[in-house]
Amino acid sequence: MIRPEDAAGPGTGAPPADILVRPGAPLRGEVQIGGAKNSILKLLAATTLAEGRFTLRRVPRISDVDTMVELLESFGCRLSYGGGDVLHVDVPERIRPHASYDLVSRMRASIAVLGPLLARCGEAVVALPGGDDFGSRPIDMHLAALERLGADIEVSHGYVHARADVLKGEEVPLAWPSVGATENIMMAATAAEGRTVIDNAAREPEIADLAAFLNRMGAEVLGAGSPTITINGGGPLGPVDHTPVSDRIETAVYLAAVGIAGGEITLRGAQPGHLRMLCDKLGEMNLRTSTIKGGLWAMSPHRLRATEIVTLPYPGVATDYQPLVVAMLSLADGVGLVTENVFANRFRYVGELIRMGADIRVEGRCAIVRGRERLSGAPVRATDIRAGAALVVAGLGAEGETIVRDTHHIRRGHEDLVGNLRSLGADISWSPAG
Ligand code: EPU
Repeated sequence: MIRPEDAAGPGTGAPPADILVRPGAPLRGEVQIGGAKNSILKLLAATTLAEGRFTLRRVPRISDVDTMVELLESFGCRLSYGGGDVLHVDVPERIRPHASYDLVSRMRASIAVLGPLLARCGEAVVALPGGDDFGSRPIDMHLAALERLGADIEVSHGYVHARADVLKGEEVPLAWPSVGATENIMMAATAAEGRTVIDNAAREPEIADLAAFLNRMGAEVLGAGSPTITINGGGPLGPVDHTPVSDRIETAVYLAAVGIAGGEITLRGAQPGHLRMLCDKLGEMNLRTSTIKGGLWAMSPHRLRATEIVTLPYPGVATDYQPLVVAMLSLADGVGLVTENVFANRFRYVGELIRMGADIRVEGRCAIVRGRERLSGAPVRATDIRAGAALVVAGLGAEGETIVRDTHHIRRGHEDLVGNLRSLGADISWSPAG
């Protein structure tokens, strides 16, 4: 299924294009924040748990959603847009529980189908996602947890083969509160006989959203948002109509943009309660934020000030904000320190910021950032979704023109970044790839 074309810029299936950005006037205006990518991808995976027509609202036009749509179509589901940001999923009585390497290798989040396929079909064959720009990214916790629920798992020829005639509820302690493992266990456990208890579960807002979705489907998922999640499995499940939580990382992109360019913006649909720790840190950096009805207001009256930030699982400052924070610190007054605790190798993009004149030294899991008054525009490459967005916002604080290449990474997760920044007054445009 091809998405409707995005009027404000290249659609998700469009030819490669670069983003050109120059410094300009302070930002002013409003941006509408859409549904969270990291929720919607898992909600789409969860639709495979039951037959019937599901409706998801507030679905952003990003290519990771397109990939998940293709994956569900490859199982035999039919997907259609119902106008605007509404996506319908028709799940047939029988689905083909096979996720090919071609699709899984495009998007690591595809591993989210493993738990629900196993639950629905009693078997699943899912390609191993492999590593990516943040390091090796194993799925050992997903597999060990499914084995605990009674699945036979074999990994061979690049695929996970999972099989279970019956899944049985169990205690599942996690060594680390992995987002993806928590989600796979929750979805698989809806079909398990008896009670599953996940200990040290991830607490991200997207986990609570998935729990709400599963509960509306008829499941019994208790305690999501806390470190202990209990799933009483085995009940019948049916389709639902659901509006996901808003994208907190998307929200953070515009906070970083106004922090760097200055100005005053309103982020409609943002859920400030999900960004509390980040907003506290941004406050230390001189950015003012306030919760308003239906969103978040932000103002940057002065030059940013350096601070220290440590990334942690929710409710800590998310690792996904890290490149945005480093971009801000590159232009802040003073020396900032960023410690990355979630991924072993999430500073790869730093070399691109250094090409723009940033003064950053990476030592193991820490980045020491000496702020500069101005960066200098340069051609740079997006290395992943969030790093790409960080380079774009860094361009708002760089003399001359910044050309961001490999923007397919940005289109994986950020809907109409160029159009939105332009509507706030930024000097930014698309250009055919150089
Ligand atoms: N880990 C293991 N074994 C496992 C699973 C995870 O060692 O079986 C490790 C990872 O290697 C990593 C840490 O645990 O060091 C955390 O990984 P987690 O499983 O929590 O992350 P994820 O589910 O793979 C999701 C988001 C990421 C986000 C992280 C952390 C999606 C699709 N992805 O990944 O988002 O950074 O949680 O919050 O939900 C993005 O959107 O750009 C993105 C990368």
